Amino acid sequence: MCLGLLLALGCGRAPAGGPAVVTFPGSALGAEGQVLRRQLERFAALRPDIRVVQRPTPDAADQRHQLYVQWLNAGASDPDILQLDVVWTPEFAAAGWILNLDRFHPATNAFFPATVTANQWHGRLYAVPWFVDVGMLYWRTDLMSAPPATFADLAREASHAQADRGLRYGLVWQGARYEGLVTVFSEYLGGFGGRILDGGTVTVSSPAGVRALTAMRDEIYRDGIVPQSALTWHEEESRFAFQNGEAAFMRNWPYAYALMEDTAASRVAGRYAVATMPAAPGGRPTAALGGAQLAINARSDHPEAAWAVVEYLTRPEQMLERARGVGQFPTRPALYAEPELARALAIPPAQARAIIEHAVPRPVTPVYTQLSEILQIDLHRALTRQQEPAAALAHAAREMQALLDRVGLGEGGPGAGR
Ligand code: GLC
Repeated sequence: MCLGLLLALGCGRAPAGGPAVVTFPGSALGAEGQVLRRQLERFAALRPDIRVVQRPTPDAADQRHQLYVQWLNAGASDPDILQLDVVWTPEFAAAGWILNLDRFHPATNAFFPATVTANQWHGRLYAVPWFVDVGMLYWRTDLMSAPPATFADLAREASHAQADRGLRYGLVWQGARYEGLVTVFSEYLGGFGGRILDGGTVTVSSPAGVRALTAMRDEIYRDGIVPQSALTWHEEESRFAFQNGEAAFMRNWPYAYALMEDTAASRVAGRYAVATMPAAPGGRPTAALGGAQLAINARSDHPEAAWAVVEYLTRPEQMLERARGVGQFPTRPALYAEPELARALAIPPAQARAIIEHAVPRPVTPVYTQLSEILQIDLHRALTRQQEPAAALAHAAREMQALLDRVGLGEGGPGAGR
């Protein structure tokens, strides 16, 4: 289907020297892989001068991060295109590993502002938001008529469901010591009016931070709504508990929604909805911003060809297809008014959009991974009652601040703030 207009864009025969080969180790599991393969096939018909070679990569984000760091640190020109978790962009940009994309004039105002902020470093764009993940509260529509607005309401509803309906758990979230725990905590933190960093100053041990972590701990030991076993759970263990009908509430990402509609696997199909996480007085309902971005290796031999692929995959029509096939949320707000998105997503687009508008990026800093590793340890120590929340957060804050100061990103350092 090579039309006149497409000819002008380069549709036609492959150049004499053969096509430019660009490599792309994106996630290609299950339905996600099928959608991506279809899109790359269409791209190949449009641009025979470019050949995209997919590379298998580990599924788990932290393993993929490690692999990318090995490749890029060694100065490899391959892979050309990188699928990044939203928290890696500043790290890779500051290391000089990925291209500043401003030279390609991307229309940044067509994307949700939070997704653009998370992909900028020193005011320049380094990756294009591909799909957006947000932390949401899943609630059971057969047990209550509206989602709770405050953490106190949530605890009350959850206890009722346990006492009156015999549910095993009130609420489930991701409490294992890994990145997911930081995303959950960041939602409680925002809900209590706190934040992890303020410029180059670590503020996680503020009174709001202590209240947020205490609230999470109280959900386990005081209210008995979150099971202690959740302290080893990731996304999937929480989903299994909720889809088995064992919990009144779950904090999770959008991917779980469509999966739990499958009546063969799920006991709660048709009996849940999503809302923003609750907040406490003085705080704001907060969704952790996650999701995937596409970036280009700074050493790529074919940056123009790589850009053509990135530009193609992030077009509105590909995002709609991704929403249809995988349930992932587009990063372009304009699509949320499209009737096609309503048909594609299991979640009503207006609800999805309202949650995305409460999305807050995790700290946008090149040392995010190290900061998160420190925080994960102390959060987990408090949640397993090895330490009081205030002491655990004070310890985390000291270590995080020392790290920022050491690399010159602390308050007053040359790279403080952005
Ligand atoms: C999801 C999010 C990602 C986050 C991870 C934590 O994959 O998209 O941003 O870091 O969960 O488990």
